[in-house]
Amino acid sequence: MSERSWYESFAPPPTAQPARAWLDSDAPRLSLDGLWRFRYAERADGPLDFTGPAFDDAGWDRLPVPSHWQLHGYGAPAYTNIAYPFPLDPPRVPNENPTGDYRHAFRLPDGWPGGRAVLRFAGADSAARVWLNGVELGWTTGSRLTTEFDVTEALRADGDNVLAVRVVQWSAGSYVEDQDMWWLSGIFRGVDLIARPDGGIGDVEVRADYDHVTGGGTLTVAADVPARVRVPELGVDAECGETVRLPRVEPWSAERPRLYDATVSTGAETVTLRIGFRSVRIDGGVLTVNGRRVLFRGVNRHEFHPDRGRAVTEEDMLEDVRLMKQHNINSVRTSHYPPHPRFLELCDEYGLYVVDECDLETHGFDLVERRDNPADDPRWTDALVDRMRRTVERDKNHPSVVLWSLGNESGSGRNLAAMARWARHRDPSRPLLYERDWTCRDVDVYSRMYLTHAEIEAIGRGEEAPLDDPALDARRRAMPFVHVEYAHAMGNGPGGLAEYQRLYETYPRLQGGFVWEWIDHGLRARTADGREYFAYGGDFGEVLHDGNFVADGLLFPDRTPSPGLLDLKKVFEPVRITPSGDGGLTIRNGHVDSGLSHLDFRWILEDGGEVVARGALEVTDVPPGESVRVDLPVLPATGAEAYLTVQAVLAADEPWAKAGHEVAATQLPLGARRPPEPPPARMAIRRDGGRVHVGPGLLDERTGRLVRLGGWEVDGPRLQVWRAPTDNDRAPHGEALEPRWRAAGLDRLTHRVDEVTVTGDGVVVRTRVAPAASDGGLLATYTWSALADDGLRLVVDIDVAGHLPGPLPMLGVVFALPGELDKVEWFGRGPGEAYPDTGLATRTGRWFRTVAEMQTPYLFPQENGRRADVRWATVTGGQGGGVRVDGRTPFGLTARPWTAEALDKAAHPTDLTADGHTWLTLDAGHNGIGSASCGPGVLPPYLLPAAPVRLDLAFRLV
Ligand code: GAL
Repeated sequence: MSERSWYESFAPPPTAQPARAWLDSDAPRLSLDGLWRFRYAERADGPLDFTGPAFDDAGWDRLPVPSHWQLHGYGAPAYTNIAYPFPLDPPRVPNENPTGDYRHAFRLPDGWPGGRAVLRFAGADSAARVWLNGVELGWTTGSRLTTEFDVTEALRADGDNVLAVRVVQWSAGSYVEDQDMWWLSGIFRGVDLIARPDGGIGDVEVRADYDHVTGGGTLTVAADVPARVRVPELGVDAECGETVRLPRVEPWSAERPRLYDATVSTGAETVTLRIGFRSVRIDGGVLTVNGRRVLFRGVNRHEFHPDRGRAVTEEDMLEDVRLMKQHNINSVRTSHYPPHPRFLELCDEYGLYVVDECDLETHGFDLVERRDNPADDPRWTDALVDRMRRTVERDKNHPSVVLWSLGNESGSGRNLAAMARWARHRDPSRPLLYERDWTCRDVDVYSRMYLTHAEIEAIGRGEEAPLDDPALDARRRAMPFVHVEYAHAMGNGPGGLAEYQRLYETYPRLQGGFVWEWIDHGLRARTADGREYFAYGGDFGEVLHDGNFVADGLLFPDRTPSPGLLDLKKVFEPVRITPSGDGGLTIRNGHVDSGLSHLDFRWILEDGGEVVARGALEVTDVPPGESVRVDLPVLPATGAEAYLTVQAVLAADEPWAKAGHEVAATQLPLGARRPPEPPPARMAIRRDGGRVHVGPGLLDERTGRLVRLGGWEVDGPRLQVWRAPTDNDRAPHGEALEPRWRAAGLDRLTHRVDEVTVTGDGVVVRTRVAPAASDGGLLATYTWSALADDGLRLVVDIDVAGHLPGPLPMLGVVFALPGELDKVEWFGRGPGEAYPDTGLATRTGRWFRTVAEMQTPYLFPQENGRRADVRWATVTGGQGGGVRVDGRTPFGLTARPWTAEALDKAAHPTDLTADGHTWLTLDAGHNGIGSASCGPGVLPPYLLPAAPVRLDLAFRLV
């Protein structure tokens, strides 16, 4: 074999063992994970001197297996979304091909049986050539797929066994692994030696069907050798291959993940299984699980950890599953490759529906007009069918897997058809999905990504634009629809979640979807002076990269939930609590097969943000899909602004959350809010050499600006229109607002004071705010007066001058306060941030945060941290005391230790340093957020028009 042919081959490896299920068996297994000897090279043609046992590797480094070498100081991570970071000339790859040579010596433990054994690689990125004791076993392809080699002949019963592996970063496989993620290499999943006893079980296939009409199940467990299957709980003890009919079984679903322990045994080996009975069908154009329409409340999950990359541990996987369950997520698409097999076991156990996707993406061929796209090139047929086969064979026994996906963004063509044909024949029990061929000729479910709400609604109504081919059109029109990626969770946002959910819940054909994506792929890094941040594309000196597009998740890289995830939890609530319209509450059970007995209902009454009473609400059990009306509790009298919060919480511990965990909640205002009347103004103006005292405030007559408030030095107000563009404003793959805003000069407004008038009871300051080279701008008039209770009233009237097209980023005023005022208490929505189309999870209440805590640390700094519908706020600190602001109507509030302009310039949070001020921004409106970073922009009701607004504020000392 030539030095290159193994990694530049279209064909799948000839010497690998046939793909089979990932089985839990009592046959001896030896994990070879640990610290291996490692030698790194920039090219793949280094000497093969290391493959024999005699080679002296004492001078080599050590590298953990599993891991990616780039995360241990060899080479560097690189991020591209679509583009291949090498020239397109399949199956050839560059000479510069980072390569890791590995060696690992091990001994067989006492009692290891003689006879057959296999060596299993669960994941090596991207191709590995393997020797045991100097005997070449073959090579692997399919980075996220399992490969097994028969090692019977090469294995030594006594003494050291030496495993030698050469892993290359680039291989032919790289052309079909162009997923939007870091390029990271190495043996990143475990390596096992598995004894294969004579008469042992090679493969097992479970078919466990549920009949929702009779409540019975049908079980067929097939094995490749004569064996017996036993399910003690069901009294099953049968020959493998036999079909057992069970008059009564409890079905498996994501809501009730009922599993039955089973064994399959021969005299030589016992395999342990966890069986879930369930059926997946498409019935009358609707995808059902156990006869009921399924609604995917899903997320797309890449495997990721900020230190380990895709070498995730069991704890990482468990944390993902728990966090998903805690946030009302019921399904996951394994974008864009089969996950570590343990993840699917956890999905079976905890209850998550899975769309299991093949390890396939060729998106970068779009950039060369799909010339030589592997999806339609016969040279690739075997390799692509091999990938599908290995996906299905490995994962076929998981009840959680309800759909197979052929891959992602690979165009269309004969090889996808071949993959589909193979999968359909092999596993008729699960429908197929593949997003990128919009004709759906090879699949059973229609799926698209990032459609607008209007396009989704058209599909819901069956009114989507027709395909050219009437037969294909009719076929597709009869298919259920899954929005396989939507609501791009990059940076601040996404907006529009509730509107999507409403559509999915209205039209039976729309079976929900999967938010893009679960977690930001930011890699933990440190500045020269040791401060931690999360790196994204370009931070490792890549020539070609896609910047922070790699950070578009609902979790921050350290798995802290983002405000977007809290919103998603709210939108995905399986129980809806709403006012009944007649003074009571309606509780709707949106579960598919659970009642509400697992939930307790509680209420909390807050008056002006103070808790004044709480109690439990009696709610009778409600069948799935039904509603009940309950009376409100008898409540004590409250003042002007009271809120009743009603929560549904877990009554008992679940494996994924403790008793008391909130599943759903709602907040009802009690009584209408009356805007507080400002106390009458009093004559308290005093001029003092170019300055005017107005109540507790001191204004500069020349600039019209407030310079002191009581003892505090202040500078402001200044009209604030700019916001540090969000990823959704920048919109790399959508309609971007940022360039329009910059072209309009909104980031370089100049402020002109036209008139400062000192009247008998106050000061009026007229300003015009506009950019150079434009005839459009804003007029801001500030009217100051003193209040009888020692307050200082400021009315800001903002109007449009000339031609200024909307939407605008925001409209508000900013004040510089002393940095020692670094604590904020507010009565308004909180505790998290909220923009017109986000903050769905926030509630009105009294909240307290330090200024530092009010910042949301998006990986790429951008507008964040705004609190909405604020009635009043205090900003205090230092030796005590501070400032209070009341709004006649609610306002938006942002407090930062740096300016919006500094935020705009920063590339990482570590670029931002406190400048000694607390910048307090009080706004009358913000533009919505949308999800144009990849997808539709802000929906019309959430756009901020260029139109007159007023802020009516009162400042007092506290
Ligand atoms: C999709 C793709 C994903 C990801 C996303 C944008 O087109 O399937 O892998 O790139 O866009 O973040």
